[in-house]
Amino acid sequence: MHHFGLKKLEGLSKIFRLNLINSVTGYKSAHLIGSVSPSGNQNLAIFSSIVHLGSNPALIGFILRPKTVPRHSHLNMKSTGIFTLNAISKSQIKDAHHTSAKYPDSVSEFDKTDLEPEIKQGWKAPYVRGAKIQIGCSYVNEYLIKENDTVLVVGKIEHLYIEDQLLGEDGWIQLDKGDIVTINGLDGYAIPNLIRRFEYARPKE
Ligand SMILES: Cc1cc2nc3c(=O)[nH]c(=O)nc-3n(C[C@H](O)[C@H](O)[C@H](O)COP(=O)(O)O)c2cc1C
Repeated sequence: MHHFGLKKLEGLSKIFRLNLINSVTGYKSAHLIGSVSPSGNQNLAIFSSIVHLGSNPALIGFILRPKTVPRHSHLNMKSTGIFTLNAISKSQIKDAHHTSAKYPDSVSEFDKTDLEPEIKQGWKAPYVRGAKIQIGCSYVNEYLIKENDTVLVVGKIEHLYIEDQLLGEDGWIQLDKGDIVTINGLDGYAIPNLIRRFEYARPKE
């Protein structure tokens, strides 16, 4: 088996280490964050760090990279107080990946891809039309991770739209029925298949 100790890790080339450390923690969620600036410019960007923080209240978090360049999604959600999360399906991966390109804030990624904005129920941050899971979030708070200048952003789920065929009777969402992708590293997209579900685990007698 290949072994990387701290010394070897620190001596790796930037790209190799980036790929290695971004893939080593396993498959990650794949979302497009939709937001809008106070002057009305729509923005869309891919994020792979969205995590569940708790279900009551329904909170999500994500990690924002260091603010060494303008981070438009973050600026928008801080000033408008809202954003959307949109699950990425297999047919959307090329365009979804392209939203990570650095465009000026005056350029909307919706205009540079075939992804289309959708405004629902007066929520001004755009959803991605056709996304099988669309989540309307409010910006709640953020915490600086001082060890590397990243930021944990906390959002609250205020609207949830789920395509009918994915939603089970007990509230469980079967993601593979919607061809919803996962991210392997920084640039690999995959589709997992459900193996089985289990009962709530209890200690053995
Ligand atoms: C697969 C993938 C996952 C990404 N995940 C994140 C992430 O979790 N956090 C982050 O800050 N940037 C992430 N990025 C980078 C952003 O997509 C990129 O910085 C984008 O330009 C941000 O757009 P914005 O400035 O309009 O918000 C990711 C990029 C890719 C390709």
